[in-house]
Amino acid sequence: MTRLAIASDHGGFKLKAALCKALDGWGVAIDDLGVDSTASADYPDYAHKLSSGIQQGRYSLGVLVCGTGIGMSIAANKHPGVRAAAVSDPYSARMSREHNHANVLCLGERVVGEGLALLIVRTWLDAAPDQDPRHLRRIDKLELPDPPT
Ligand code: RB5
Repeated sequence: MTRLAIASDHGGFKLKAALCKALDGWGVAIDDLGVDSTASADYPDYAHKLSSGIQQGRYSLGVLVCGTGIGMSIAANKHPGVRAAAVSDPYSARMSREHNHANVLCLGERVVGEGLALLIVRTWLDAAPDQDPRHLRRIDKLELPDPPT
């Protein structure tokens, strides 16, 4: 079963709460890694927490929410093996999964309304990574090569 982690900063707290409720209703097992209130928090702390869990294989997928989704995606993409996509429409959500094999979805509470965010998450979860060799080759190239010794 897919184990999904979710986290936000203060700017994404309200949307995270709504997503948690919806995911629960859809029967998706989630770990909520915080934050637990709208008190000011630093988004990289939560992006790194969730991304480490993906790297270590504790979670197969993650959802990060901040004000725009951008800061979260920048931080998450520092982690090898993490492919985070900041999206604000269902088509990009589907493509990020099918073509880019995104394993982290980043949303902006100040960018998308709750209804659209739920549709984006549902679309993202329902999409499957396309296994065509051309995509696999490109995904392989997303990781930086080892530096010469
Ligand atoms: C916090 O005010 C805001 O900067 C943060 O939530 C996020 O939008 C950063 O990318």
